[in-house]
Amino acid sequence: MQATVLSGPQVHIAADYLTLCEQVASRIAGIVRSKPNAVLGLATGATPVGVYRLLAEMHRSEGLDFSGVTTFNLDEYYPMSPDSPHSYHRFMDEQLFAHINCRRWNVPDGRERGMDEIEADCRRYEQAIHDAGGIDLQILGIGQTGHIGFNEPGSDAATRTRLVTLDPVTRENAAEGFGGIEHVPHRAISMGVATILDSREIVLMATGRGKADIVQRTLSGPVTSAVPATLLKRHTNTHFWLDTDAAHFLDR
Ligand code: PGA
Repeated sequence: MQATVLSGPQVHIAADYLTLCEQVASRIAGIVRSKPNAVLGLATGATPVGVYRLLAEMHRSEGLDFSGVTTFNLDEYYPMSPDSPHSYHRFMDEQLFAHINCRRWNVPDGRERGMDEIEADCRRYEQAIHDAGGIDLQILGIGQTGHIGFNEPGSDAATRTRLVTLDPVTRENAAEGFGGIEHVPHRAISMGVATILDSREIVLMATGRGKADIVQRTLSGPVTSAVPATLLKRHTNTHFWLDTDAAHFLDR
């Protein structure tokens, strides 16, 4: 049997969260400057918030121009109204888009509707990414389950944008923000693993000791859909950006 040769993700370790965010923001700014019509894949969650703050600052102080940029977010809860304080649509508006001059930003539509409509919208989301020229750089966080986007364990490398069921661990981790687990949706709409792997560059960010175990399992373990983040090892331009806490269990 022939072994699959994996080049492996490049791992960068920053001393602290701010340094990590500065490095990632500067990579994004570099892309936006060299390609004014760049396509960015964006993530929600606590991890990238510092990056968005720095990008907003660069827009304000240096005039970093997002007017030609298109963005696609990874996921949205379902059902979820875009105006809800819990929606990722609102999160992105508040954290980033209210502060920069990007007008073409896309977040999957979480509004309640029939399955046929959802499937058609998911196909349209994929088509829109394709029509925009494909994602130049995709930002990712990582969940305790090893999810990327809301591709929970079991999501394979062929998955595309679709309605997914959230892992109980993911719902538990979101419970505080929702004021109790009973308020956390059971489902979401997420880009697929294949959608993510189509990106020309992938930047996975992880910070804090709480991510150290899943980061170690992802980087050291076998490539398996049981830990979807390991599927990134099939991509030749993936970068893991970690702070020292998230890198705690890595063998340097
Ligand atoms: P976090 O979420 O940035 O809030 O830790 C990451 C994720 O679940 O993908």
